[in-house]
Amino acid sequence: MKGEPVPLGATCYHAAPGFMRHLQAELGEVYRVDGELLTAMGPERRAFWTRNVWRKPFTAEFGSVGEAAALLSSIQRNWAPCPVKFARRTVLIGERLPHFPDRPKAFPFALPSAPMGAFTLLDEHTLLASADCSSPWPNGEFSFVEDREGPPSRAYRKLWEALVMAGSMPGPGQRCIDAGACPGGWTWALAGLGAEVTAIDRSPLDDSVMAMPGVSFLKHNAFTLKPSDLGPADWLFSDVICYPPALFDWIGQWLESGLARNFVCTIKMQGEDWDRATTERFAAIPGSRVLHLWHNKHELTWILIRDKPGATQG
Ligand SMILES: C[S@@+](CC[C@H](N)C(=O)[O-])C[C@H]1O[C@@H](n2cnc3c(N)ncnc32)[C@H](O)[C@@H]1O
Repeated sequence: MKGEPVPLGATCYHAAPGFMRHLQAELGEVYRVDGELLTAMGPERRAFWTRNVWRKPFTAEFGSVGEAAALLSSIQRNWAPCPVKFARRTVLIGERLPHFPDRPKAFPFALPSAPMGAFTLLDEHTLLASADCSSPWPNGEFSFVEDREGPPSRAYRKLWEALVMAGSMPGPGQRCIDAGACPGGWTWALAGLGAEVTAIDRSPLDDSVMAMPGVSFLKHNAFTLKPSDLGPADWLFSDVICYPPALFDWIGQWLESGLARNFVCTIKMQGEDWDRATTERFAAIPGSRVLHLWHNKHELTWILIRDKPGATQG
């Protein structure tokens, strides 16, 4: 019926930019493909290479652009247009909806509490939309207010994003190990939070990062250092370029040792393909999750957080 949302009984997966092929391989056969939006029947399945997942998509028929905007607004405030077919009309509907702040965000900040929906058009008079989406950002996309002078690389943005998504971050005096630290973007970000950072790499850090208070540097292959060589850490970070199984084995040693509490590691994919088996093994570690962050490239981020703000350490 016109103006009534009709549940689709499906899930829509919006591919991470450039990784449509990986997402297609994860989902197999799908019900429909609209640009980089894949619709598969049934409830949400685990898929890593997404920028956003539309969890409860519905279709709705409408007459005018104003009617479409009114229909969406009657459900919730925030909706991100996802222009595919009838792109201009999709944007026009977006322009009739309440504006939401999309300026670069200054780190740190809390995840927005208001839900962000997404919509597109299947034809001139049919919306495909979901109020419930996995990402709090419009189409999974956002940017930080960047520091263009302090950090020696832009890699700090994906660390910031991981910490925002985790809802937790190292505090003053906490000990962090940063493996694969050169030139020092992550170490710069961690030292900037007041943490004590042991940075490990085969190559030296940028001098400006090396000189930051709380930073010490170990020129070494991280994976030949045992947890007992490095001692207890509140946070273990790794951005080492390596085959995923090498990282998994090293992280396994840390988990077994109980010497680190919180983890943020990039799982870097080599060549054109991706290591699904090792990614699944990371994702199966209790309490952890694997995400493709907006600032990730051909890599995924594994996050295990045990210390939430206000939680008592056990
Ligand atoms: C992507 S870069 C890290 C960028 C860094 N996170 C930043 O913010 O500037 C990857 C680093 O891993 C280092 N690396 C590769 N294999 C390593 C290993 N086995 N042990 C320690 N570092 C390693 C490389 O030397 C390189 O500096």
